[in-house]
Amino acid sequence: MNRYTQLARAVRTTIGQAHRAEHSIRVARCAELLAMSHGIEPERARTAGMLHDLARLWPASQLLEEASRREYPIDDFERRNPIVLHAPLSALLARDRFGLRDSEIAEAIAAHTLGAAEMSPLARVLFLADALEPQRDFRERAELWELALQDLDAAMYATLESTLAYARSRGYEIAPRTKAAFDTFSRLKGKVSTVSTH
Ligand SMILES: [Fe+2]
Ligand SMILES: [Fe+2]
Repeated sequence: MNRYTQLARAVRTTIGQAHRAEHSIRVARCAELLAMSHGIEPERARTAGMLHDLARLWPASQLLEEASRREYPIDDFERRNPIVLHAPLSALLARDRFGLRDSEIAEAIAAHTLGAAEMSPLARVLFLADALEPQRDFRERAELWELALQDLDAAMYATLESTLAYARSRGYEIAPRTKAAFDTFSRLKGKVSTVSTH
């Protein structure tokens, strides 16, 4: 059994649901592909994808409890929307239960839901793989995926723009970190070429 088969089994056990574990495998594959297209180490991207949603199915009460127990500084947005805590908590679980020692992978996992003002190329790859994996069901998905294969920053801009437009249309609260990420990629837009910026 190779390393990823073992990892997939352990992830399935930790997540506790086939559906979400399968999403993690798809995200891992998409992240690997994006990484290969942009000169980023594919193994690290694949590992990030496998481990990104370990705490995704925890109820809000458990997310809040675990975050306080681990002295994670919960901000106002997270307090009102505890589901987003699954990202930093998945990073912590990856460290504790899967022996993850790569801090850039951990940071990518922590930023996969809301984004961040500063995102490494690996964090961009994971964010886009999670948002654009083939079972995501929204109109621009295929187009954004093609863009992500060409240009990570342009795809970040367009994906965040689409996320923000959707949130506004639904009257959802917008996370300050997502807004900050959008501002970053808005600034980069125009400066980026079809070659990635790592
Ligand atoms: Fe997630
Ligand atoms: Fe996910």
